[in-house]
Amino acid sequence: GAQAAASASTLTFPELTKIYDQTHHVAEGYDADILVRWGEAILPGGTELDAAGQSADAQAKQFGYNCDFIGYLPLPLGSTNSEHGLLCVNNEYPDPHIMFPGLTEDDAGKMMTPEQIKTVQQAWGHSIVEIKKENGKWQVVKDSKYNRRITGTTEIAISGPAAGHKLLQTAADPTGTRVFGTGYNCSGGVTPWGTILTCEEGLSDTFGGDPAKGGDPKLLERYLYDGTDLYGFSRIDDRFILEKTPNEPNRFDWVVEIDPYAPDELPVKRTALGRMGHEAATSIVNKDGRVVVYTGDDDYFEHIYRFVSAGKFNPDDRAANKKLLDEGTLSAAKFNDDGTLTWIPLIHGTNGLTPENGFADQAEVFIKARLAGDQVGATKMDRPEDMEPNPVTGRVYAVMTKNKKRKADEIDAANPRAENLYGHILEMLPPGEGKDADHAADSYKWDVFLLAGNPAKPEEGAKYNPGISPNGWFAAPDNIAFDPKGRIWIASDGATDFDIADGLYGADTLGDGRALPRFFFACPTGAEMCGPAFTPDGKTLFVSVQHPAEDSENTDKLTTRWPDFGDSLPRPSVVAITKQDGGEIGG
Ligand code: FEO
Ligand code: CA
Ligand code: CA
Ligand code: CA
Repeated sequence: GAQAAASASTLTFPELTKIYDQTHHVAEGYDADILVRWGEAILPGGTELDAAGQSADAQAKQFGYNCDFIGYLPLPLGSTNSEHGLLCVNNEYPDPHIMFPGLTEDDAGKMMTPEQIKTVQQAWGHSIVEIKKENGKWQVVKDSKYNRRITGTTEIAISGPAAGHKLLQTAADPTGTRVFGTGYNCSGGVTPWGTILTCEEGLSDTFGGDPAKGGDPKLLERYLYDGTDLYGFSRIDDRFILEKTPNEPNRFDWVVEIDPYAPDELPVKRTALGRMGHEAATSIVNKDGRVVVYTGDDDYFEHIYRFVSAGKFNPDDRAANKKLLDEGTLSAAKFNDDGTLTWIPLIHGTNGLTPENGFADQAEVFIKARLAGDQVGATKMDRPEDMEPNPVTGRVYAVMTKNKKRKADEIDAANPRAENLYGHILEMLPPGEGKDADHAADSYKWDVFLLAGNPAKPEEGAKYNPGISPNGWFAAPDNIAFDPKGRIWIASDGATDFDIADGLYGADTLGDGRALPRFFFACPTGAEMCGPAFTPDGKTLFVSVQHPAEDSENTDKLTTRWPDFGDSLPRPSVVAITKQDGGEIGG
């Protein structure tokens, strides 16, 4: 069903009603077509998903599981082509209990066969596919030379200030500059030079063994490496046993740069962006030419960070640009209660980042970025997820998904609710506006953009534009994107706790419709919404429907078999949304 447009918003679509069922829904007047599913063959020699005959070899040539971040990169490189490009998609993590019969969520790590564990390792990471719009519909180009998988076993270079450091060296890699695999690739970003930043959100639960016998028990504890071994990796590979390969954890939890236009180049872990549970890493060329990357650390009471490159972006030297993220200053955010924000640089030898406090050198400041943030007094946030500069206004939006653990005596102005089950979005204002905004300034202002929750329940303390409809509210905001007009599109991850679908909401950031979300897309049962990404012309919006049916006990009791239904397994998929009249998304 639909509801008439609210007059205050510039968004003209009829809002969805609060629907939550086995399939997806988009606002009337739009098409939402499945573009690519988990298990589709995307590489030469690939085979389509065979639910009963899954193997690591097959998965390595298929689109990965649990699509998350989406980057759309036009073809050719440097163009703004909105009908032909590279779709670069994170595959956050596998769900063995709904991939393989006979497993439950709790026992999968112990019960999976070695082949299933290896299949899982191939199911995550990143998938790149060439796509083309033909006769108004997007298609995957199956035999493209750009199609690529980056998985839990792909060779990846380590660069930047921590590369080669003794804490990154292992028996298999005494150079500390090469690692196999990436994982928990959550959100990410596209750089101004057309590469992808895929974020490792924290591999802590993929290691087994005894953290007390690991390399640095205090560091392992701060990064939550407790020996959980959720996927059984330690049963097939000693490098995932904490006491056997004590430095292996330090080789994960980084931002990884991938050049989708150069399929033969190794991805690179960029250590200057710090080590943490990176949710996203979004970048902008500052007015002085330096490149600024915003990144949040998605866990309870973690910090928000900003990287400012030492060098400057050069539109004519892509090779040089690809080194910009190796040298610069990482800072952590302190949100002051007076509405100002201080970026505290994490520079060795300053602000207590000294050997006496456990930071032997600058590389250790990056490897132990969480501890560095603690040391300098960065604000402890309500699980910082996506952060992204609005390319039109220059304001930066930071999404706190939720934090049930915050106690009443732990609230502050930037995290204003105890037991925050709903999440909120902050607006950070660098000095200057639009292209003149100074994203390298030491001090910003900040404001609360909205507090999520159900406004019909005053006890939840939600705050939106008072013109919000009964369908426009949400909980647990996670990923955001901006359309070419600078409107924010907010994806939710966890609204299902309140028996509403996760989905996508659009809102103005300025004017009468500021902070007035409107419900645009609803996910099927058990799924979260991720990765909103627009084509440059604003006429296509790609979204990831992640983990449909994840709320199922096992494959015998699936809550949905989206998107193909019948006997098929649920398949996380990227959806391409277009307006039926060919116009811009949102109008
Ligand atoms: Fe993977 Fe923070 O969501
Ligand atoms: Ca997720
Ligand atoms: Ca996320
Ligand atoms: Ca999330």
